[in-house]
Amino acid sequence: MRIPRSFIDDLMTRVDIVDLIESYVSLRKTGQNYTALCPFHHEKTPSFTVSPDKQFFYCFGCGAHGTAIGFLIDHAQLNFVEAIQELASRVGMDVVYEQGTAPVSVAAFDDLYQVMAQAAHYYRQQLRLSPKAITYLKKRGITGEIARDFGLGYAPPAWDNLLKTLETNADMHSRLLKTGLIKQHQKGHYYDHFRDRIMFPIFDRRGRVIAFGGRTLSENTRIPKYLNSPETPLFQKSRELYGWSFAQKIKSTHGIIIVEGYMDVIALVQYAIPYVVAALGTATTREHVSLLFRRVSTLIFCFDGDTAGRNAAWKALNTVLPLLQAGRQVSFILLPQGDDPDNLIRLEGTDHFNQRIKQAIPLSEFFFNTLTQQVDITHIDGQARLVSIAKPLLMHLPDGPYRELMFQKLSDLTRVNLKNFTTLIHKDFKKNTNIQNRQRYPVEYYQSVRDLSAIEQAIVCLLHKPMLSVEYPHQKLAFLKQQDIKLLLNLIEFTRKNPTLTLGRICEHWRGTEYEQTINQLATQKPLFTETDINIDEEFRGAIKQLYKDYVTQRQAQLQEKIMDLTVEERQELSSLFQFMNN
Ligand code: UTP
Ligand code: MN
Repeated sequence: MRIPRSFIDDLMTRVDIVDLIESYVSLRKTGQNYTALCPFHHEKTPSFTVSPDKQFFYCFGCGAHGTAIGFLIDHAQLNFVEAIQELASRVGMDVVYEQGTAPVSVAAFDDLYQVMAQAAHYYRQQLRLSPKAITYLKKRGITGEIARDFGLGYAPPAWDNLLKTLETNADMHSRLLKTGLIKQHQKGHYYDHFRDRIMFPIFDRRGRVIAFGGRTLSENTRIPKYLNSPETPLFQKSRELYGWSFAQKIKSTHGIIIVEGYMDVIALVQYAIPYVVAALGTATTREHVSLLFRRVSTLIFCFDGDTAGRNAAWKALNTVLPLLQAGRQVSFILLPQGDDPDNLIRLEGTDHFNQRIKQAIPLSEFFFNTLTQQVDITHIDGQARLVSIAKPLLMHLPDGPYRELMFQKLSDLTRVNLKNFTTLIHKDFKKNTNIQNRQRYPVEYYQSVRDLSAIEQAIVCLLHKPMLSVEYPHQKLAFLKQQDIKLLLNLIEFTRKNPTLTLGRICEHWRGTEYEQTINQLATQKPLFTETDINIDEEFRGAIKQLYKDYVTQRQAQLQEKIMDLTVEERQELSSLFQFMNN
């Protein structure tokens, strides 16, 4: 279902982010802004800031940021459409849907949750009826209580159990297909996706069943041990974590443990370590990690003690590097060969396992241990190789003390002077700082880059003070003709038309477009959320001047190259370029 951008623009002018957030956390006025203890991470002194002028929130502690809509999505766990509906009802507006898209798909979406709930119910019922499945769970040490808490079920062996039970009409048929619960055979007939499997319902953040994982009870080694629901409108596996619906409720000072499998989550919870989640048949993604870091500042990866587990841990390390802002910690529990958290905690008990958590290896140690095992750093060759492998990885770390310590450590290990590193690093950075390149990298990566291009500087200024484009001499802006400048020009046009724009409205206007990421990244240039926006006019003027200079220099060179056969217009242009330069 689609909501027109014009409706969202309109809605954003009526909503007040302070009112909204105030109904969730208690805000205190400090100067122009409001502050609070951050609802996205654990802290003792408030670093969460809400700006009424910008209609934007930002946390100096964890980097959480966004608009009113963003707050509802991240904090109240609504999806985009639900967030719009919630805000609209708060300000007494009726949501407008694009023609023909509303009634059909709103209903369809709700229906999909409904069919998942029905399926989960059916599987639970079948578990009670299957001595074979019950025996299996008992054998694996799962108590009835835990099975109930996790909503475990059983899909019986035949090809059409669920189909026969739930498919009462054509509509149900299409819902079963959309949720991946049934599939169509090449020959045309339909059949149950899950057969003879223990069923693990996967819950979203609001506790609704959005997918299933199923573990086979068959001895047949040619079928996969675990089978998951395919990606559906309800389920994107790069975003969902098994166990998160439970773990998010725990005010954990321990952080969150990330394990590999369903059974690992269940075993740890059963053994009184409830702050645990698992990625679902994929590697841990950046979305997973960002989601977790909004709640806790410590992540502990605990993967199986085999080669696959080690590789998964290394991959996870690479994923988290760009997200390691000050205050965030990551460590790794490396289990003995052949063990996984499930068997180990059942074998050695909670206390021993807690010991392992306490002794988790910090990321820095895991990083250098892994790399120094691959090169011989007693020789110069090895040291050089270490630098060449480690440096590009460490470059992903955001600026800050942690980054410096890691480079210091690399310098100690290789006896390469840190100063040389830093110059090397900055040179490399420059190459990568144009906007196009940026889109390929995580937002957080660039929060660390201090020197913005002139285009970006101008954008940052406009985001924080949209009035600038109205106040600034028109004709000077008209000169902007650089590449990569589309966003800036669009922003100038948009802000000119709507001089009372706020940062929040700008963000929502471009949500879901090619500009979203760049705007988000540039919007959170930290200093601009304090009260020292004083120099912003100056900075904007400077940036535009720089852009103009760049352009004039280029254009002059171009024209002067063919100075002999310039047209009349070109002659005029050239002289106006000189004039502009001089005032
Ligand atoms: P494991 O094979 O390590 O699972 O896979 P496990 O929990 O130890 O399995 P048990 O103890 O034999 O029951 C870890 C995770 O990888 C995914 C599943 O999410 C599983 O929980 N996986 C594994 C699959 O998606 N498909 C597979 O065929 C195997
Ligand atoms: Mn296992």
